[in-house]
Amino acid sequence: MLQGKKILLGITGSIAAYKAVMIVRLLVVAGAEVKIIMTPAAKDFVSPLTLSTLSKNKVLVDLAEEDTWANHVMLGRWADVMLIAPLSCNTLAKMSIGICDNLLMAAYLSATCPVVVAPAMDEDMWLHLSTKRNIATLQSYGNHIISVAKGELASGLYGEGRMAEPESIVQYLEENFFRENFFKNKKVLISAGPTQEPIDPVRFISNHSSGKMGIAIAESFYEKGADVHLVCGPVKEKIKYKGIHLQNVITADEMYHACMKEFETADIIIMAAAVADYTNENISLQKIKKQETSFKIELIKTKDILQSIGAKKNPKQLLVGFALETNNEQENALKKLKQKNADIIILNSMNDELAGFEKNTNKITIFNKNGNVLAFEAKSKKAVANDIVEYIKILIDEA
Ligand code: CTP
Repeated sequence: MLQGKKILLGITGSIAAYKAVMIVRLLVVAGAEVKIIMTPAAKDFVSPLTLSTLSKNKVLVDLAEEDTWANHVMLGRWADVMLIAPLSCNTLAKMSIGICDNLLMAAYLSATCPVVVAPAMDEDMWLHLSTKRNIATLQSYGNHIISVAKGELASGLYGEGRMAEPESIVQYLEENFFRENFFKNKKVLISAGPTQEPIDPVRFISNHSSGKMGIAIAESFYEKGADVHLVCGPVKEKIKYKGIHLQNVITADEMYHACMKEFETADIIIMAAAVADYTNENISLQKIKKQETSFKIELIKTKDILQSIGAKKNPKQLLVGFALETNNEQENALKKLKQKNADIIILNSMNDELAGFEKNTNKITIFNKNGNVLAFEAKSKKAVANDIVEYIKILIDEA
């Protein structure tokens, strides 16, 4: 998302300036072009040499250097986004009343791009009424404020005022300014992860699904502008973007109800979850005690979510299912495509060492209802998710 984007980074005098080094690194690795302005005070906290080396651009501090004038107007016009991180209490106050006593302030006052600030200060300063007023003033100017975090502070105290972590600052920029538009106004429903079917209060039946593939698809659609609704079974995986509507479920029945509620208004439906096919009919309220020899659990069939949606969907909705197979892969995938009235079935082979549960890579073949088959190489689940989203984009373009 950040490939080729232009970020003007302002760094002010705060201990958190050391984290700006990581922000620069993350932006550059993601393909952004970064220009940096430091306030004179910021130089006490982090070296311009480190920052210029990482950003591959000269770090600017002064309005003029001998016979050269730093063109602050053009800097503000060059950038897609101006980010000030860390934002000290002092620069915050100057921004709120428009004092122009250094290059950073001059660039801020002439910036035509969105301005994002990530404040950093001790808790007492953060809670001071003047700080609150200044933050509110900046907001009223249309500036974006990245909330401070709670944690250990430079003073040694614990409290509010820590600058947000570099990863979440970069993510904030991606989510708020650099999502693509292709799937804008399209609602995408995705199921992911395993389900857990309880036996008693301490035991359940489940499978090895990590949710990685479904979550990667959700993130990829979100990056391309979709309104993403993710119904997710119990997983360890974190969802990167705050804007993804996440509904956590445990059992197949909960997943069924959540998906059936959301699908009617969805344009694209992708069922990537490994839903339990059977559930325990009689859940014991107490822990089941050890038996003498053996004991039986009566399992009953769960509802097939993909099939239920396939039976009800309208012709404009695109329904995508997965098929996880260990044998007769193609035959079984095509059977599922037909049986469940899907538009597309994505075959995951369990026979490839680079594919399967909990792996970070996958190898897929896409079968569509028009008889087209497209096999892909093994690649990271993120890259597979991008392939799937691109495939759907082409289908929509051609429709
Ligand atoms: N699926 C579903 N609800 C279920 C079972 C499966 O929505 N109760 C969906 C999965 O999310 C996947 C597709 O159906 O998109 C195929 O799942 P898979 O486990 O491969 O096949 P099953 O239909 O369960 O059949 P089998 O286990 O016999 O292969």
